[in-house]
Amino acid sequence: MITLGIETSCDETSVALFKNSATRTPADLRPGTILSNVVYSSLKEHRRFGGVVPEIASRAHVETILPCVRASLKKARITLKRIDLIAVTQGPGLMGSLLVGISAAKALSLALGKPLVGVDHVVAHVYSGCLSDPLLKFPFLGLVVSGGHTLMLRMDDPKNFLVLGQTADDAAGEAFDKVAKILGLGYPGGPEIDRLARGQNTARFFFSRPILSKDSLDFSFSGIKTAVYTTVLGLKKKHRLTPQVKKEVAAGFQEAVCDVLVKKAFAASQRHRLKAIVVGGGVSANSRLRAKMNATARRCGTQVVFPSAGLCQDNAAMVAALGWALYKEGKRDGLGLAGYPRFGQQSSGGGEMTESEKETGLSEDKNLLDVHQAAGILDISEKELWDLVHAHQVQTHNIAGAFLRFRTPDIEALKNRWRIERELFPKRERYFSHHNTVTRAEWFEKLADFWHFNDFYIICSLLILALLAVIISFQ
Ligand SMILES: [Fe+2]
Repeated sequence: MITLGIETSCDETSVALFKNSATRTPADLRPGTILSNVVYSSLKEHRRFGGVVPEIASRAHVETILPCVRASLKKARITLKRIDLIAVTQGPGLMGSLLVGISAAKALSLALGKPLVGVDHVVAHVYSGCLSDPLLKFPFLGLVVSGGHTLMLRMDDPKNFLVLGQTADDAAGEAFDKVAKILGLGYPGGPEIDRLARGQNTARFFFSRPILSKDSLDFSFSGIKTAVYTTVLGLKKKHRLTPQVKKEVAAGFQEAVCDVLVKKAFAASQRHRLKAIVVGGGVSANSRLRAKMNATARRCGTQVVFPSAGLCQDNAAMVAALGWALYKEGKRDGLGLAGYPRFGQQSSGGGEMTESEKETGLSEDKNLLDVHQAAGILDISEKELWDLVHAHQVQTHNIAGAFLRFRTPDIEALKNRWRIERELFPKRERYFSHHNTVTRAEWFEKLADFWHFNDFYIICSLLILALLAVIISFQ
């Protein structure tokens, strides 16, 4: 079985193909093989802003998602027809970015007639440990440290997990970025601080470790960041912020963050009697964190798994692998699958594809907004709402959302707005409005037609350019 995974939660567009192991031998407990894992990062476009700009990230996803799908298929040397399952990051992440991946996944699921499974990005980071270490067994502790998340999970199996602790304010990666900015370093801050702090005295600048309370497994990093800011401000006033001092401040800060992460992770593993810890997310690439985790693991007799470099960053291989594991456990999502921005909002997912959805490609949207509720907001009958849904290929919550957002005075004005759109985009009308009579095979043909049209357009442009070049050379 081959799973196509899509990841677009932040600034990385990634598409991967994953083939699960048909039979697991005692020697190889890995869930399967990564056939390809293509990652495009729009990081360089965000650098000058000192952080990820959601709008830029979403646009980059729109531009790169299809090239990534093609590159992934080419790398794995397979065609779309051989895909058996589509897995996609459902959240947490930037909503605009998530929507691009989710839309692409839905389109592929619909066109290929293959099942769709939504995957949680944070859980996928933890599950990537299973791809890296064939001997890893459930239950284990997952520590996710990145620019967006810092939390610990007890993973009982791919489907069931328990949150043991999470950050009360900044994520660890976010603190690295902010401290890098305070020190006048580039973005992202993690690799810069890691490079600067290497081999430096960690004791000259001591920043207190926020442990919160004795029993708490939660984190807090904003205090360390403020302490660094105050220290740097004092040094600047005394003109003592030399390059060497910057290195030592970076080393002191990094040591404090790593100490907290290591202490809490091992406290959690001992309290819950977990014999293995998987460290995932971008910050897991930090050399000091790795050294300290490994040293403590040797002392405590605990196994520590750091996924390989390619699986530490945001990638679709972990999404595809977890998607397959969840599918095996019975998870199915319909075309009503919706993204969620924050961890813990998983329940807003799509649920199983209904017969009506399979027929029409439309979501009944039962998890997002009740039809009765939406009709109430719009002050129309449920039948009239369903007519709108079917005529405009939109979901009930979108209709109600548009109504509230634009403060449309009445439903007729809303209908007119869509009527105008339909006139402006007659082609879209042809493809989408007669969905009830269009079979899946026809959908596929129409998609293929659309791609051919694009190829034809490019070929014509190249021929015109070549012709112009010949004319200019003759003159
Ligand atoms: Fe991530």
